[in-house]
Amino acid sequence: KVYHDSDADLSIIQNKRVTFVGFGNQGSAQAQNLRDSGVKNITIGNRDDDYKPKAEAAGFTVKSISEAVKDAEVIFLLIPDEVQHEVWKEQIKENVADNATLVVASGYAYAFDLLELPANMSVVMAAPRMIGPGVRDRYVAKEPYPCFVSVEKDPSDNALPVVLSIARAIGATLGGAVESSCREEAGIDLFAEQALWPAINTCFREAFNTLKAAGFSDEAILHDMYLSKEPAEVFDRAATVGFFRQLKFHSPTSQFGQLRGTKNNDGTALRAKFEKVLHEDILSGEFAKFWSGAFTSGSSDLEQLWKESEDEPISQAEKRIGLHD
Ligand code: NAI
Repeated sequence: KVYHDSDADLSIIQNKRVTFVGFGNQGSAQAQNLRDSGVKNITIGNRDDDYKPKAEAAGFTVKSISEAVKDAEVIFLLIPDEVQHEVWKEQIKENVADNATLVVASGYAYAFDLLELPANMSVVMAAPRMIGPGVRDRYVAKEPYPCFVSVEKDPSDNALPVVLSIARAIGATLGGAVESSCREEAGIDLFAEQALWPAINTCFREAFNTLKAAGFSDEAILHDMYLSKEPAEVFDRAATVGFFRQLKFHSPTSQFGQLRGTKNNDGTALRAKFEKVLHEDILSGEFAKFWSGAFTSGSSDLEQLWKESEDEPISQAEKRIGLHD
């Protein structure tokens, strides 16, 4: 189901006391969009970091997170997913009104049960498929952008009009907001990050290694693979004319090679790997548990993984040709 401006009553959110926890990519964009949509009572809850003066400079009232959520009727939780459970537990949980509405912009924390919620709290999702500056720029230019919306927890039986009002106020119903769910949004997002893109990244890594082993030059391989920005062109066309149909812009030799090569690739092992990652790691909640724990204890492997990626032959080749140091 797709919701449009005509499905939403803007006055619902205009008359609420709204708090944004976080004034980063999404928080700054959505708070400004809401204000320009006539929502008068907006408070920003932010810790004492570089984002706080930005919120003040933009003309908002800024309080500590625990103070800002106190009498809010609607709370946008717009801080990074991996810190939400901790901030919720330590600064928000004890201070929120029991019947407030929580708005998330990603399904992660709710889908994997990372927030301890008061019994009467409603939970909705308004998740732009768009970076924060895009959410703001498109609102100002009156241009549409894609967004998922959902009602997750609705003890008052009144959350749908609220989330539609919010979606309209941030500019998300202009082009149609798509009904989804936290589980679906987080599942697809994490799947792309942990299965689809790793598979694509592995293809590029091994393509480089294969061509390099054949004695081809770094410059030639990297230019052909992506420095030309051809992959960006391909995905751009895929989004407008279709995933396979964009091949019509390639030469007949390329079309034949790609269609035959794809058809002949046995995807069974990849599919089995994808199923495992989706069900055993992601939808089971195992990844969320691991990642939240890693953040709380400060022991994520991210830095080590970055270091290893720098040692890959493909990264070394980029260095040799002067792409980076
Ligand atoms: P961000 O990284 O821009 O968030 C910065 C904000 O979080 C600042 O206000 C900062 O003070 C606060 N913050 C960071 N760490 C904190 C901590 N430990 N304690 C208290 N406050 C802390 O986050 P972003 O990108 O705006 O993401 C917010 C939500 O929006 C997430 O749920 C994300 O998944 C979702 N989202 C993000 C999109 C994007 O393109 N960035 C797109 C759609 C959804």
